[in-house]
Amino acid sequence: MERIAIYPGSFDPVTNGHIDIAKRGLKLFDKIIVAILHNPAKSSLFSVEERMEMLKISMQHLSNIEIDTFDGLLVDYAARRGARAILRGMRAVSDFEYEFQLALMNRKLNREIQTVFLMTGLRWIFTSSSIIKEAVRFGGNIEDMVPPIVNERIKRKFNPPAGRN
Ligand code: PNS
Repeated sequence: MERIAIYPGSFDPVTNGHIDIAKRGLKLFDKIIVAILHNPAKSSLFSVEERMEMLKISMQHLSNIEIDTFDGLLVDYAARRGARAILRGMRAVSDFEYEFQLALMNRKLNREIQTVFLMTGLRWIFTSSSIIKEAVRFGGNIEDMVPPIVNERIKRKFNPPAGRN
């Protein structure tokens, strides 16, 4: 049986930390479905389509990865896709409480699906999508924290070329 994991998240935008987790997850699973939560209630910098495109480009060198979107309950989506595991990356202690709650709730909702955590690579311990957006908004350089396509698109978002809307 194929071992499939769902790697869910907002990915607004994808960072090198996410790519590292997906790459290492592929050593444990036959296939990883990177699933972007489609949540109209949550404001995001990039549209789901933009996030999907950036994920596709930055993960094109990895095989056995699929990029998809989902809405509704994560465990229902995982069951629909034939996945028995949810993959999440964990950074510092500050991630723990939220991840613990999420994993326990998901287990309560579907006991057949296990959450698997991978510790983030040390290099990416302080890399998060939200801190990256804040840094770029104030002119900071984040090029070593994100794939090249994200660096380009995020700069364009905050600083559109003159003469274009
Ligand atoms: O990257 P994020 O924003 O930390 O990812 C959070 C995500 C998408 C994993 C989480 O919000 C989620 O799974 N949402 C879907 C609804 C759901 O199933 N929630 C958990 C049980 S209430």
